[in-house]
Amino acid sequence: MRRPLVAGNWKLHGSRDGNARLLAALRTGLDPGWAVDVMVCPPFVYLAEAHAALEGSPVLLGAQDVSAENQGAYTGEVSAGMLREVGCSHAIIGHSERRTLYGESDELVARKFKAVVAAGLVPVLCVGETLQEREAGTTHAVVQRQLDAVFAAVSIEEFARGVVAYEPVWAIGTGRTASPEQAQDVHAFIRHAASMRSARMAGGLRILYGGSVKGTNAQALFGMPDIDGGLIGGASLEAGDFLTICNAAAGTVT
Ligand code: PGA
Repeated sequence: MRRPLVAGNWKLHGSRDGNARLLAALRTGLDPGWAVDVMVCPPFVYLAEAHAALEGSPVLLGAQDVSAENQGAYTGEVSAGMLREVGCSHAIIGHSERRTLYGESDELVARKFKAVVAAGLVPVLCVGETLQEREAGTTHAVVQRQLDAVFAAVSIEEFARGVVAYEPVWAIGTGRTASPEQAQDVHAFIRHAASMRSARMAGGLRILYGGSVKGTNAQALFGMPDIDGGLIGGASLEAGDFLTICNAAAGTVT
């Protein structure tokens, strides 16, 4: 059984006061009996404070991005070792906003994957196609290419340390969610691609869905066999919505 993971990607949102309120509400609302791992990914500058606010709670802390480098003359970058030191266990890499707005290549994302694993953290590798690519029928090819870059850079053991998040670009922040069947199709494809490397690794690989997940559609998405939780943007900024989604992933919503 793969234990589901629900990760909140706060993106460029938050404030010290707002974060304190949101984290306190999550601590109070999260039932430790729910069979789900829950994580928040605030902007870098808030990570240490969020770590302190979450002390003693099961809520995990992740970063939204990370440098592929460990140290050196890389102005503006933050290394995986630094993230570990401030309490992160995970780092999102290759989010479509990083790929499209900041020109991150498949190869750079693969180097980040390696750096994160080397630091002892879990990379959350985002993959997914644009609307144009979907309409051209190249969804599987795009996802395969994104995965292949990482497969080429890391061993099976290293890949097994990561989590994959399928995020169709056309569904991110648009209110337009992939249907559970559309998402399942790509999740099954990702698991199949992973099984070509190692059936054992593929069987244990957690594959999250992201793109306009809300309290109202989470249950149907998480009910699909290859969807092991979600990467949540907008709906992670409101404790009630986020907790409903966590509850759905835990399978405790009936
Ligand atoms: P969204 O974002 O839930 O707001 O669509 C998801 C993401 O980009 O991780």
